Amino acid sequence: MPNPSILILPGDGIGPEVMTEVRKIITWFGDKRGLQFDVSEDLVGGAAYDKHGKPLADETMAKAQEVDAVLLGAVGGPAYDDLDFSVKPERGLLRLRKEMDLYSNLRPAQCFDALADFSSLKKDIVAGLDIMIVRELTSGVYFGEPRGIFEEGNERVGINTQRYTESEIERAARSAFELAMRRNKKVCSMEKANVMESGILWREVVTRVGKDYPEVELSHMYADNGAMQLVRAPKQFDVILTDNLFGDILSDCAAMLTGSLGMLPSASLGAPMANGRPKALYEPVHGSAPDIAGQGKANPIACILSFAMALRYSFDQGAEADRLEAAVEKVLADGVRTADLLASEGVEPVSTSQMGDAVIAALDASL
Ligand code: NAI
Ligand code: MG
Repeated sequence: MPNPSILILPGDGIGPEVMTEVRKIITWFGDKRGLQFDVSEDLVGGAAYDKHGKPLADETMAKAQEVDAVLLGAVGGPAYDDLDFSVKPERGLLRLRKEMDLYSNLRPAQCFDALADFSSLKKDIVAGLDIMIVRELTSGVYFGEPRGIFEEGNERVGINTQRYTESEIERAARSAFELAMRRNKKVCSMEKANVMESGILWREVVTRVGKDYPEVELSHMYADNGAMQLVRAPKQFDVILTDNLFGDILSDCAAMLTGSLGMLPSASLGAPMANGRPKALYEPVHGSAPDIAGQGKANPIACILSFAMALRYSFDQGAEADRLEAAVEKVLADGVRTADLLASEGVEPVSTSQMGDAVIAALDASL
């Protein structure tokens, strides 16, 4: 069996800085745990535009289709703000998601005890929180036709269309139920079946798919109530399944329950490849943070936890993913903080590379 392959796309701004720390961790798993990966690296976003005149070269796209997992840093920055829409850095990321057909976006919202004070909610509401939002990523209102701004009489009308086929709902639902089987066997599906036909179909299809997973407890909730429940009592949820638009909003809301943008990983998964692994892209939720880029201040944990997700969902190394997450937890419990995690004055922040080294030391200590 060939080694599993990883394509690293550091991108722009703090992307390369946080990815350097992830590379150390990938090397650690090779040296200390015998997990060898074939790692290659390429350009995306503004960095790719600078070299190729577009934010993702065709060769890079082709490589992304072949590897077992893509790890991406972040794209964009002020230097590229005036570029034409078609070559903006974000288009590189969108092209990856679109052409790899990554329909299932996994956004964990997990509260590390050491950071529970960081939440805008009361500590006992978020302490121990561990939920996963599964957002359908390739269809729905962001893609539905007709769309556009049209003349209608003597004024203009802006149109977007929420559109879901049964098969699109089904595959997203399956991915949520499969995930639930590996977690606490609970799925809450959110739509607005009370006012939207696409929501009625969503609920119907999810219910049907759920019959294939009799062990999983399925519930349904209107998405507006879901938003309220997320801030009222988030621990009632385990896996939340929802569409592209509601998922965009609900996942950002859930994320902020747990603190800093520098802590939040994500995975975007597609259909299984010939080797059984899903097409997969792992990336931190944050952007390229131009305000702190190049200063060694960025928190690499979001990107490190994205690699932990790769271990779990692409490489079937759940125990090693647990090890990495526990190492992060230990570092935080020990009080190691990058600048974004500083709640009070008087604590000296560590740099990006010091945080990476602290995670490596905690990994060593786990052996
Ligand atoms: P951002 O996530 O880059 O930054 C928002 C704030 O959070 C900034 O103050 C930043 O310093 C801080 N921050 C973010 N990640 C951090 C980390 N790891 N450690 C410490 N602090 C961190 O979002 P913003 O400012 O809206 O966008 C900046 C650029 O990034 C734009 O060009 C935007 O288009 C792009 N972007 C790219 C994304 C991606 O690649 N997936 C996602 C969001 C934005
Ligand atoms: Mg968003």
